[in-house]
Amino acid sequence: MSFNNIKIILEKNNYKFSHLKKTESTMLEAQRYLKKNLQNFAIISDIQTNGKGRRGNIWHSPKGNIYCSMSFKNFLEKDKFSLFNILIAISIKMAFLKYDNKEIKFKWPNDIFFENKKFGGIIAENYELSNQNFIIVGFGINILTYPKLEKYETTCANEFSKVKNIPDFMKIFFQILFKNLKLLQKGELAKLINIYKKSLMFIGDIIEIQTINKSIIKGKFIDINHDGSLKLKYNKNFLNIYNGTIKI
Ligand code: BTN
Repeated sequence: MSFNNIKIILEKNNYKFSHLKKTESTMLEAQRYLKKNLQNFAIISDIQTNGKGRRGNIWHSPKGNIYCSMSFKNFLEKDKFSLFNILIAISIKMAFLKYDNKEIKFKWPNDIFFENKKFGGIIAENYELSNQNFIIVGFGINILTYPKLEKYETTCANEFSKVKNIPDFMKIFFQILFKNLKLLQKGELAKLINIYKKSLMFIGDIIEIQTINKSIIKGKFIDINHDGSLKLKYNKNFLNIYNGTIKI
């Protein structure tokens, strides 16, 4: 199957689509496209020469894995934009479930794990253009290869799942994503958040979160709020954390 079927699904939903053989980063392509066209779209590239992870990390991007960025004209209040991360994360998991019943887990806010090994990551950026607010969400899923990293263990779908063919998988992914997007547009947040929470690592545990200014906060991971933030019990108070990394 080629990427043509994906184009059809996306166009039905008023999204433009392009498939590239190679690019520096689909996040950069997406940013350029959005500035020029102010229109929702998705880009998939077979290879990235300078893949971008969160917090300035590099995202290993050889051929054989998924590298995709897509834009959403924001219909949510600005502080809720991390709900788009949740939308993508649960849609990825639901697409994997069409192949096998494997326990895919999420590490808040946007890492995707199998048996404590990371195989996918999501990054979201917010753009204000001509008085319109857009979110570009990029995600990478290791299908065929994975890098060996010092910070955490990694894996790829090939080690645990029947997912092999990228266009087939992405077709299923986009079908699921647009269904979930409709739920988000209708305000049926609880459904989406509940799916996310069921597969969340460390909920109920004492965790350490590294915040964007690099300070560490230790507390009990209580819940995910309806804006996608993490509710932490810290001393006797409750904190809502909007950005950070849970240390493992
Ligand atoms: C993370 O650090 O976990 C997020 C990784 C996001 C990687 C994807 S791959 C497609 C898109 N293009 C990029 O350069 N980065 C994102």
